[in-house]
Amino acid sequence: MTRRLPIVLSLVALAAAVLVVACVGAGGPFRAELVELPADPSSPEGYAPLDRYAAMVIPADNPLTAEAATLGKQLYHDTRLSGDGSRSCYSCHVCEKGLTDGLPVAIGAFNKTLTRSSPTLWNIGFHSEFYWDGRAKSLEAQAFAAWKGGNMGASDPQAVVDALNAIPAYLAQFEAVYGEAASVDNVPKALASYMRTIVGGETAWDRWQAGDASAVSEAAKRGYQVFQEARCVLCHVGVLFTDQQFHNVGIGMAADSPDVGRFKVTGLEQHTGAFKTPTLRDISQSAPYFHDGSVATLEEAVRFMLAGGAPNPHLDPALKPYEATDAQVADLLAFLETLDEPCDGSAPRLP
Ligand code: HEC
Ligand code: HEC
Repeated sequence: MTRRLPIVLSLVALAAAVLVVACVGAGGPFRAELVELPADPSSPEGYAPLDRYAAMVIPADNPLTAEAATLGKQLYHDTRLSGDGSRSCYSCHVCEKGLTDGLPVAIGAFNKTLTRSSPTLWNIGFHSEFYWDGRAKSLEAQAFAAWKGGNMGASDPQAVVDALNAIPAYLAQFEAVYGEAASVDNVPKALASYMRTIVGGETAWDRWQAGDASAVSEAAKRGYQVFQEARCVLCHVGVLFTDQQFHNVGIGMAADSPDVGRFKVTGLEQHTGAFKTPTLRDISQSAPYFHDGSVATLEEAVRFMLAGGAPNPHLDPALKPYEATDAQVADLLAFLETLDEPCDGSAPRLP
């Protein structure tokens, strides 16, 4: 699923995906296909800012290596990580649904209904705050929270770690990558390393931006004009299509006790009902839409945003209605469809 954003494309040669790691386990050697890294992390340009909004943040205590990402990909696809053995991280972030799950709100381990919709994870390594309200400050912290919390329901992570260490090939892999057995600390590190390789940037739109005039239709080109004129770019900005800021667009605000979103993190009145601007990459695949999954189709979502959101006391003042004709809406949808990401959801072999 490794993808490169436009600027990264022009950079250093990539680690080849053909290498394999071999770990000898009880049932014979375990061989994992190495995950390809987005760019050479040792190169100064490797993770240079994609635009003024984003550089990939890699904590000093969790260097990104192909081996760590490979181990992380296995864990990410392994249902043994969840409290009831029913869910893997991938269960709710699947390729065919634009790295979401197709549900209005997610249903976690032990069939627990969660309060929000699964977001896409394209280019998540370039974000600096995680979740719809940005409450997690690193991917490592986010991965730990998703693992221990309602999503994966592993309320006793140490028990999961013990089970992993009882699998000889996993134990050998952890020792090779971290110089120690699996732990409550290094499992989230491996998951975060893998997520930093979920880099998008091979869409028709990217090819067009790189100079291939035939990559997108005339309707999509007109739609991109509408996207700019309607000021969608104020928030869905740059190659990430997000400013990583938090805005109230009015979704869910009519409820008796609305989800206050970012307010819970900052305590700032103006953050009431504000949520992180989602990327629009793979948007045509990731229905239903918004933090509560309340809007079923992309056309409805686009018309809602064109109308300037839903009035409420905390509506972001940047939202202004834009009078679009039906033809312009169709063009806008054609543009958004050029953001479909090729995605490889094949599961890795597990030890
Ligand atoms: C039951 C479905 C489900 C499972 C399983 C699940 N997630 Fe998620 N994921 C969600 C939902 C829902 C959210 C948004 C929650 C919120 O914002 O409060 C989310 C948010 C995220 C985010 C933040 C995205 C952003 O834009 O900030 C990341 C990263 C993520 N999940 C990774 C993982 C990892 C890693 C695992 C496995 C340890 C996992 N998820 C398991 C449903 C799931
Ligand atoms: C002021 C910032 C801002 C502007 C301007 C803006 N958006 Fe958004 N957009 C957001 C935020 C924030 C959300 C998520 C809100 C939520 O879920 O409560 C969102 C959600 C969306 C979604 C749903 C994404 C998903 O994954 O569920 C679509 C589609 C979308 N916007 C398209 C547009 C279009 C088209 C325009 C221009 C007409 C536009 N937006 C203008 C901030 C903005």
